[in-house]
Amino acid sequence: MPMHKHKVSVHLLSFQALVFFLSIFIHFSHCDVGTASHYGPPFLPTACYGKDASEFPSSNMFASAGEGIWDNGAACGRQYQVRCISAAAPRTCIPGQLIQIKIVDRAQSTVSRPSRAGTSMVLSTTAFQAIANASASLINIEFQQV
Ligand SMILES: *[C@@H]1O[C@H](CO)[C@@H](O)[C@H](O)[C@H]1NC(C)=O
Repeated sequence: MPMHKHKVSVHLLSFQALVFFLSIFIHFSHCDVGTASHYGPPFLPTACYGKDASEFPSSNMFASAGEGIWDNGAACGRQYQVRCISAAAPRTCIPGQLIQIKIVDRAQSTVSRPSRAGTSMVLSTTAFQAIANASASLINIEFQQV
């Protein structure tokens, strides 16, 4: 009988340890999965900075925020790391490419229409081309605020 009890408590302990390590893992790999389309010029005015183009990164690595991350305008200026994970057509994603973009606008009110409405974010053509075949209108992405 005491042997049996001991066994149960060891199992309980290892289960708690597993939950503990899983929670650490989930915390440190906090990535969201969503979709991205792309848009080209004209980019001004923006919902974030009006007619001020000085807020655009010189690398042209920027995006407009979908409603899911717009956060009442708090998204303006936030930086995200984005990678392409899949698309409808095979080999659309450029393997191993990770970009960092800055949010400069709100997707639903950009001057230029995105290649697809309702995505998590709309990447500048430059940003989109860095991770995927530019002839695609929609890709699935993994993204993380940095
Ligand atoms: C991009 O996709 C188009 C349309 O599917 C295809 O014709 C083209 O070859 C692709 N480009 C590259 C570099 O894979």
